[in-house]
This record gives sequence, structure tokens and C-alpha cells, in this order.
Amino acid sequence: MSPFKNYIFLWLTIILVWMSAGSGGFAPPGRFRENSALVGNRLYFFGSQNTAQQRDNIYLDVTLSTLNTTNPSWFRSNSIPADFLLASSCVGGPNKNTIYLLNHLTTSNGDSNNTIVYAFDTVATSWSTPNISGQIPLSRQQFQAVNDTNGKIYMFGGFKYPNPSFDVIFNDIYILDTLILTWIQGSNVNAPTPRVDFTATLLNNGFILYLGGIAGVVGTNTIYMSEFATGDTLNSRYSHTAVLSPDGHVIIYGGVIIGSTDQSQVLASLDSTVNPYKWSIKPIIGNNLPPSLAFHSSNIVGSFMILTFGVMMANNTFSNLNNVNSKIYLLDTRNYTWVTSTSTSLNSSHPPNPTVTQIQTVIASDSNLLSTGTIVTIPLVLIAILAIAGFTGYWFYKKKKQNDIIRVAGSKFDASM
Ligand SMILES: *[C@@H]1O[C@H](CO)[C@@H](O)[C@H](O)[C@H]1NC(C)=O
Ligand SMILES: *[C@@H]1O[C@H](CO)[C@@H](O)[C@H](O)[C@H]1NC(C)=O
Ligand SMILES: *[C@@H]1O[C@H](CO)[C@@H](O)[C@H](O)[C@H]1NC(C)=O
Ligand SMILES: *[C@@H]1O[C@H](CO)[C@@H](O)[C@H](O)[C@H]1NC(C)=O
Ligand SMILES: *[C@@H]1O[C@H](CO)[C@@H](O)[C@H](O)[C@H]1NC(C)=O
Ligand SMILES: *[C@@H]1O[C@H](CO)[C@@H](O)[C@H](O)[C@H]1NC(C)=O
Ligand SMILES: *[C@@H]1O[C@H](CO)[C@@H](O)[C@H](O)[C@H]1NC(C)=O
Repeated sequence: MSPFKNYIFLWLTIILVWMSAGSGGFAPPGRFRENSALVGNRLYFFGSQNTAQQRDNIYLDVTLSTLNTTNPSWFRSNSIPADFLLASSCVGGPNKNTIYLLNHLTTSNGDSNNTIVYAFDTVATSWSTPNISGQIPLSRQQFQAVNDTNGKIYMFGGFKYPNPSFDVIFNDIYILDTLILTWIQGSNVNAPTPRVDFTATLLNNGFILYLGGIAGVVGTNTIYMSEFATGDTLNSRYSHTAVLSPDGHVIIYGGVIIGSTDQSQVLASLDSTVNPYKWSIKPIIGNNLPPSLAFHSSNIVGSFMILTFGVMMANNTFSNLNNVNSKIYLLDTRNYTWVTSTSTSLNSSHPPNPTVTQIQTVIASDSNLLSTGTIVTIPLVLIAILAIAGFTGYWFYKKKKQNDIIRVAGSKFDASM
């Protein structure tokens, strides 16, 4: 090598070493319809609708003393043994450090009629497919499950899978007890109406709040965002995200909006500490503001909401499904300000763990239920769903095979909404 080439080589090496040291060596490409789960300081993201990332298992170091938007520390972990998209991941296990993926695909990516659970031990960084007894739920997609702190995972709704015409939507409830690896079917008497692409948030009072989503039947399955809630008016939406802040507010962002007003860049907060719950739409203020997004992820770490990935929206439509977000955005939930780093909040209190031994779900669709306090008993748990959520009309949604095109077309809206 000539001295000149040596010089170039040295610099290239230095640059490469510097890049890999600074960012965990890895800047993940954008993706959407991934799913996320937090264990310790690691925020894991699984799969994607993008073909190349369907087995991805990556994590972001969310240590609050160092987390920032300019140079987030990403790492890659052991790949999922099956493709994973349009589904849900939750935390459980005896040591609260195993992540369970509720999948509809086999390891050879064949369709499974029954939900397959893939378990990722975050300490051993190994995958397993535990045998689970009990009432195994039918496979489904486009649902959000939620876990409590006692190893139980609550699964509701979603499209039946396989289901080429997307005409079967569930409103059943299944509970996976990850301590005894058993599925238990809950009663869906008075359950919320069937829906997909909603959010599920476990509140501090033990209720699971189901927000938004879409239903397939014209007019009959209207889901309003403001049912049982006061305050600002929010358009019905799906594929938004919802997190619970330490001070008991459910914070939603983005989504595909049903209705005339483009609110896909709207940040809103539902105060769940008052009765009735109250919405307020927040101004988008601060630095490093997020774009209009759908099919993204949001998680709470300390007082911060971490927003990642998703599809960019333009005027409430997908300009291009390849127009995906690879960045992270940070919201200080104490004052709804978007920030570029979290280090100012080292002493912030973490969200209190809900002390839930039973889930209560007050069933939606009939407002009398709330005022009369009716609850529905189901085996093992008492489930009460407070559905505040919304969508009406006619929609058509297609996922060709597992990774092609999402088409939202022929939408027609009920003007009476
Ligand atoms: C951002 O975080 C990275 C990784 O922890 C760190 O190396 C870098 O110094 C931080 N940058 C800023 C501007 O805080
Ligand atoms: C899945 O269900 C379909 C329809 O009920 C059935 O035809 C098929 O044999 C089932 N597949 C398996 C692997 O059980
Ligand atoms: C699950 O059960 C099958 C059949 O009984 C067995 O071959 C397999 O090893 C079991 N898997 C695990 C992870 O226990
Ligand atoms: C889910 O489980 C993990 C581990 O137990 C826990 O830290 C987390 O708070 C749980 N989520 C909710 C909403 O309770
Ligand atoms: C969104 O719609 C507005 C008003 O119709 C238009 O001015 C703007 O250019 C559109 N933006 C995009 C990105 O299409
Ligand atoms: C938001 O609250 C945090 C913590 O109290 C504070 O450090 C920050 O300055 C506040 N930001 C604004 C814009 O008020
Ligand atoms: C924590 O931060 C707040 C401001 O956000 C400050 O008022 C308080 O004194 C700090 N507490 C400790 C123990 O440092």
C-alpha cells in the first residue's frame, strides 16, 4: 500500500470503529407494524410488515441518563424463529423477563389455525416454543394484548387468521397465565364489539381501556373515541398508539383517522383519574417533533414516552408504505413537551406498578353499564372493559400474503357520527 492508501485505510477504520462504538454499531432501518416490549433498560422491537425485518429482534438502550434522539443505542439480538407482524408481544414469566409473542405463523411461516406463543428469555437471549395447555385461542392478527405484573397476558379482538377476506373479527377474551403456561378463555358476554387495530391499556384501577380501532360492519359497530369521556373531541382512529403516563393519563398519538379532520399528528391525553375520564388535545411543542404516523410504537420509560418507527402519513393517507420512520421521538409526559434527551429527568418517579390481582373490564356498547356499575363475571377473573373508542362506516383492508400492500379504500363514513 502506498502511504496515501494507508492513510485512507486508517481513517476508514477509525470512522467505522467510532460509528460502531457510538450507536451500538447499528442503525435499524425504518419499519412498521412491529411490536415492542420493555424489560429493564431494554426496549425490544419484534418483526415488521417490511419483508426484510419480519424476524428482527432489536432493542434500544433506554437508560434515561444517556437516551437521546441524535444517537440512540441500538442492538440486535437473536432472531425470532418465525416471521412476526400484525401481532402482539407482552412480558411475563416467573422472573418477569420473558417476552411472549402471540403469533399466527409457524417457524416455516406456514399459517397456524391456533395462536402459537414464542417465548424470548431476555437473560439467556434464547427462544423457545413452550407447550401451552388450556383453551388455545384461534390465530388472529391486528390486535393488542396487554400484560399485568402477575404474569398474565390478556388477549382480545383481532382478525381471524387465516382469513383471506378479512371478514371475521373477534371480540373474545383469552388470558395466558405465563406462570403455569395455560390459556383460559374469558366470557365475551357483553364484551366490546369486535375490532382490530385498537389499543389496550391497563389502567392503575385495574381496568383495561380499549381505545379506537376499526370494525367491519357498516353502522352497527360504531366505535367512538369519546364514549364515556368528556373533554376535547377526537376523531375515530385506528393504528394509533396509547401509553399510560405515571400520573394516570392515557396518551395517544397518531393513527389512521376516520372522519373529515386530519388528526394523524394529534397528541391527546385522557385523564383516567377523574370520573368521567376526560380528553385533552395537546399542542405539539418542543424539539424534534414527530411526523404524522400510523402503525408505530410508543412506550413509557419513567416519565418519557418513546415513540418509534411507523409509516409516515400525508394528509391522513399513506403516501407510500415504504415511507417508514426510522427515528425515535421523546415526549416528556409531565408537560407534553417533545425533547431530544431524557437526562434531565434522572430523579423522575417511575410509574407505579398496578397492583392487579384481577382485571375488571366494564363492557362498552351500552352506556348504562358504566353508570350502573355492571360488571361481568368470567372464569378466574372479573373482566370489565371500558371501551371509549371510535369508528364507523365501511372499510376495506387487505394484506396480501403477509408483507405486501395495505389498501384502505372505498371508505365511506356515517355522517351522523
Ligand atoms: C446520545 O447517546 C449516546 C449513546 O448513549 C451518547 O454516546 C451520546 O453522547 C449522546 N449524545 C448526546 C448529544 O447526548
Ligand atoms: C385450519 O382450519 C382450516 C379451516 O377450518 C382447515 O381446513 C385446516 O385443515 C386447518 N389446518 C390445520 C393445520 O389444522
Ligand atoms: C412440547 O410437547 C411436544 C409433544 O409432547 C414435545 O415433543 C416437545 O418437546 C414439547 N416442547 C417443550 C418446549 O416442552
Ligand atoms: C408487564 O409486565 C412487566 C413485567 O412484570 C411489568 O414490568 C409491566 O409493568 C407490565 N405491564 C403492565 C401494564 O402492567
Ligand atoms: C395536504 O392537503 C393540503 C390542503 O389540501 C395541501 O395544501 C397540502 O399540499 C397537502 N400535503 C400533502 C403532503 O399532500
Ligand atoms: C418540562 O418538565 C421538565 C421536568 O419538570 C422540565 O425539566 C422542562 O424544562 C419542562 N419543559 C418545558 C418546556 O416546560
Ligand atoms: C428531582 O427533580 C425535581 C425537578 O424536576 C426537583 O425539584 C427535585 O428537587 C429533584 N429531586 C431530587 C431528589 O433530586
